[in-house]
Order: sequence, then structure tokens, then C-alpha cells
Amino acid sequence: MGCNIAIDGPAGAGKSTIARRVAGELSFIYVDTGAMYRAMALYLLNRHVNGEDGDKVAAVCQEAEISIEYRDGEQIVLLNGENVNPYLRTEQVGNMASLSSANPKVREHLLKLQRNLASSHDVVMDGRDIGTTILPDADVKIYLTASVHTRAARRYLELSEKGLPCSLEEIEHDIAERDERDMNRQVSPLKKAEDAVLVDSSDMGIDEVVAKIMGIYREKVES
Ligand code: DC
Repeated sequence: MGCNIAIDGPAGAGKSTIARRVAGELSFIYVDTGAMYRAMALYLLNRHVNGEDGDKVAAVCQEAEISIEYRDGEQIVLLNGENVNPYLRTEQVGNMASLSSANPKVREHLLKLQRNLASSHDVVMDGRDIGTTILPDADVKIYLTASVHTRAARRYLELSEKGLPCSLEEIEHDIAERDERDMNRQVSPLKKAEDAVLVDSSDMGIDEVVAKIMGIYREKVES
């Protein structure tokens, strides 16, 4: 069993940036589980599946084989053998991932992959249900959040920097809608594990959040 750090929280809270940095400092592997759900969403979109049609999603998701590779320390998501990283970060894929990830068959499909990675490596794994469901015995659990407005502004900046056209208002609306779905779904809803440490990054910079999590890690694991 590797040493496991679980970082959960809502969309746009900065989980991936922070988790990647913490993994780098500790020489752990960074596992982005959202990217796995996004790869599944991409498959469903390519197959023109309606994300609200639970039976269809449950059937079609069985055809998608998702695996992970690491190249130069970066996580590469393979969908039926193809590197799909360049297609995962669009709002369309994110919205479909939020819909389809509520499906128990989709979650079941990805659970084993996530647990296998954590049992064979030291990992920092980010997602929505890592501390509650995937790795209930994780050594360190963090619930990273920020206000809807802060998260929308961050995502807006990220997309604008990539030259992708977007509207702050629409992003804010999408984030609030995604929170609602992620937090209220029947299976593995997003919630803080009882033993997770709450970190609200609304008024914190990246370095500050990383330092805080490293402090929590040292206290729990190294002391
Ligand atoms: O973190 P993200 O925006 O890349 O995640 C995309 C969607 O995937 C998100 O709306 C909820 C879902 N997800 C999930 O249900 N469980 C996870 N462990 C990770 C992501």
C-alpha cells in the first residue's frame, strides 16, 4: 500500500494545480480522477449519447477502456488506446462529465483503476469522492474549496489564457449548476469526509495552499 493523499472539492477549487505541486514536492504520483471521468464523457459525446439517459450511459460506458500512463511525470489518459488529454478540458466535456459521473455504472467502471493506482504507488489523488469512497483509509484527506465567484474567475482566466472564448457569467452559472449536481447526486456525492481537513482557498495564493497541505502532511505522516 502506498502513502495516499486525497484531495476532494468542487470544480475550480484549484485541486489539480495544488495536487500536482504537492505530488512534485513529495515525489508522489499525481492522479487526476476528473480526467478519467472527462475521458468517459468524451467517449459518450463522440457516441452522441444523451447524458440524461441513464440506461444508455450505463450500456455505452462499458465499451470505453480507460487507462493511465505517465510521460515525463504528466498523467496521460488513454481512451481505447488513444491519448485524449488534448480534448478533455472543454466546458462541454466538463458538463457531460458532471452528468455522466452520477451514473453508478460509470463510477464502478473507474473505481478499480483508481484504487489500483493508489495501492501500488504513493499518490496525491484529486476528485470528489476520494476521501469518502475510493480511499477511505487515505493517510491525509483534504477538502479544498473556494467561493463560486472565486472559482469562476479562476476558470475564466485559465480559459482566456488558452485563447478559448468564454463568458464569466456563463462559467459562474455552469459552476453553480455543477456543484448542485455533484453535491446532490445519489451515488458518491461530493462532500467533506468527516476526517478531512477543510481548506478554503478563496483568499489564499497557490504557494500558501501548498504550504498548508504540506504542513498537514508532515503533522499526520512524518510526526
Ligand atoms: O475535476 P473535474 O472538473 O475535472 O471533474 C469533472 C467532473 O467529473 C465533475 O463535474 C465531477 C466528476 N468527478 C467525479 O464525479 N468524481 C471524481 N472523483 C472526479 C470527478
